[in-house]
Amino acid sequence: MGKVVGVIAIKGGVGKTTTVTNLASVLASEFGQKVLVVDGNFSAANLGLHLGLVNPEVTLHDVLAGKHEMEDAIQKHDLGFDVLPASVVPKKVEMLELKSHIKKIKDKYDMVLIDSSPALNEEILATMMASDELLVVTSPDHPTLSCTMHAVKVAKRRGTPITGLILNRVYNKQFELTTQEVEEATETPVLAVIPHDVRVLEALAATTPASVHGDISDVGVEYRKLAGALLGKQYEDRRLTSRVKGWLQRGKLMEVPKHEVNRTLLSDSVGKE
Ligand SMILES: Nc1ncnc2c1ncn2[C@@H]1O[C@H](COP(=O)(O)OP(=O)(O)OP(=O)(O)O)[C@@H](O)[C@H]1O
Ligand SMILES: [Mg+2]
Repeated sequence: MGKVVGVIAIKGGVGKTTTVTNLASVLASEFGQKVLVVDGNFSAANLGLHLGLVNPEVTLHDVLAGKHEMEDAIQKHDLGFDVLPASVVPKKVEMLELKSHIKKIKDKYDMVLIDSSPALNEEILATMMASDELLVVTSPDHPTLSCTMHAVKVAKRRGTPITGLILNRVYNKQFELTTQEVEEATETPVLAVIPHDVRVLEALAATTPASVHGDISDVGVEYRKLAGALLGKQYEDRRLTSRVKGWLQRGKLMEVPKHEVNRTLLSDSVGKE
C-alpha cells in the first residue's frame, strides 16, 4: 500500500510532468488506482497548470511552511486522482520535510507520484528522499543521456532504487540513440518508449493528459503498459495494428522490443511482491 514513485531528470523539459499526469490518469481510469500527484518542483511549479488548476488557494509550500495540513492542500481532480499543487511563486521552504509529510498520507493511496524539479540541489533530493522508487525520464540524444547518467549515479548514491527509464520524445530517426545504447550507458532498463507526438502538446493546451485526451494513441498505450507493469499487471493493446504486431512477434517474424521485455520482467517481479 502507498508506494511513492518519484519521477526525476536533471534536465529541464524532458517530460517529467507529462509522465506524472499521464501515469496518474491511466492508473486511475484504466486500473482503478487511488493516486496522488505531488508537485515537487518547488522553484518552477507547474503540475497544477498541466491539469488546469490555476492559482490554488493552499499549496505544498504552505504545508512545508507549517501553515496548513496536507489535507488542506490536496485537491480532487475530475480525472479521478488527487493533486497536491505547489506555489507558482517560489518561496523558501524546508523542502527536505517533504518525506515526513508524504509519509503521513501515503497509506491513503495506492500510489503517490512526485513530479521532481530538474535542479540538482535540495529540490531533487527532496523527491529522492521521499520516494520508495524512481523513474528517470530521458530522451535519445547525447546531452540528455549525459544528464541521465548523472541522475542515475546520484540516485544510486542516495540509495533510492531506480525502477527504470522512460525514453521520451522519440522520433524514430536513425541519428537517435537506441534503447540498447541508453541502457548500456546508464546500466538501467528502459521501461517505456514514448514517441514525440504533437497531440501531447495539443492535450497540454487542453490541460488534459494526452493518454485520456481523444483516441488512444501510441503515447497513451505506452503509458497504460507502463502503469500496468508498475502494478504487476498487463495492459492489452486491442488496436488492429498492435494485434498484427503481436501475431508477428509470436510467430518470431518480428522481434519483441527490449522495453516490452523489461516491462514483462518488472510486472512479474511486482506480481511476486
Ligand atoms: N512525447 C511528447 N511528444 C511531444 N511533446 C512532448 C512529449 N513529452 C513532453 N512534451 C512536451 O514537452 C514540454 C515539456 O514537458 P514537461 O513539462 O513534461 O517536461 P518537464 O521535464 O516536466 O519540464 P521541467 O523540467 O521544466 O519541469 C511540454 O510542452 C510537453 O507537452
Ligand atoms: Mg515539469
